[in-house]
Amino acid sequence: MEKTFIMLKPDAVQRGLVGQIISRFESKGCKLVGMKLIKVNRDVAEQHYAEHKGKSFFEPTVNYIMSSPVVAMVWEGKNVVVIARELMGATNPVSANPGTIRGAYGMDISRNIIHGSDSEVSAKREIALYFQPGEILEYPKAGEEWLS
Ligand code: PPS
Repeated sequence: MEKTFIMLKPDAVQRGLVGQIISRFESKGCKLVGMKLIKVNRDVAEQHYAEHKGKSFFEPTVNYIMSSPVVAMVWEGKNVVVIARELMGATNPVSANPGTIRGAYGMDISRNIIHGSDSEVSAKREIALYFQPGEILEYPKAGEEWLS
């Protein structure tokens, strides 16, 4: 089954938005298969944003996700990569639809609440960066049979 990596960034944790955001993923029908509260170190932060190294926002973005604990999660479901990105909304909260997570809770691209993998390839890379294989759980979930 398809999986995606989702991070609730330091501003989401500090502003007390964790429960509301997780609720959106649960209500949609996504299945939570991995979750932990962690402090991201520089090595992991730089690997996470490696494709942006050299851009003006690389260093501020690395410092931002290291600045306070984050919630790292793996969600599972049919087409979950695209579905999660629709739930999150545009990267820049200024242009995100108000019904989306970034549109509802964010004001600025440098504090945009949440990260989600942009493809299945990125999801595999990001899950491996933040989780050991044994931290991703397989389990039956009540109601799954009503989602497809
Ligand atoms: S781009 O524009 O194609 O390089 O951007 P993208 O691949 O969507 O992701 C860029 C990540 O860096 C964060 N970030 C910024 N992007 C663009 N401009 C500015 N000023 C900026 N500041 C921070 C942006 O939120 C993306 O991170 P994630 O974690 O995916 O939200």
